[in-house]
Amino acid sequence: MPYLTRQVIAERVKEMAMEISRDYAGKKPLFISILNGSFIFSADLFRSLTIEAEICFIKLASYKGTKSTGQVITSIGLDTEVFDRDVLILEDIVDTGRTLHQFLPQLEHQQPRSMRVCALLHKAEATIHLVDIAYTGFTIPDKFVVGYGLDYDGLGRNIDAIWQLADREQ
Ligand code: IMP
Repeated sequence: MPYLTRQVIAERVKEMAMEISRDYAGKKPLFISILNGSFIFSADLFRSLTIEAEICFIKLASYKGTKSTGQVITSIGLDTEVFDRDVLILEDIVDTGRTLHQFLPQLEHQQPRSMRVCALLHKAEATIHLVDIAYTGFTIPDKFVVGYGLDYDGLGRNIDAIWQLADREQ
């Protein structure tokens, strides 16, 4: 059995989109989706919004296999003006918090009107850098997960549910 089924994910993503649509009505927020892992979550959440909104993409990475390397690399940068915008960052998963801990100050520097994080998954037990997450899909244990955009060394992103890797594989 998957850890989170396709139906459970779909329902939660819809709820998150409804909540954001209520909170950002009339604000035309700018979503910044962090590639690669967030592409499926972002697509599903974004098309469930009932408000006007924009989306752009950046590419940050810190993982190799199932371990965080500790280094966050930007391989596609931000090409959209965030000054005076209501920004929502879309993350597939906040694990140690390292990626956002490095990225959020860079973004803040560009003076958005507001800035909030929306993460599908949060491994609260794995926190090294505390990140304020305004919208969380699911808080999960500190186990490696795959599917719905999340990969294991590049593979598994196309699985429509989220699976936990067995302990011996980690
Ligand atoms: P952080 O910088 O440690 O918070 O990790 C964030 C990034 O690591 C996520 O955007 C994912 O790309 C990757 N990541 C962390 N945990 C997992 C996991 O369980 N499965 C797949 N990718 C993960």
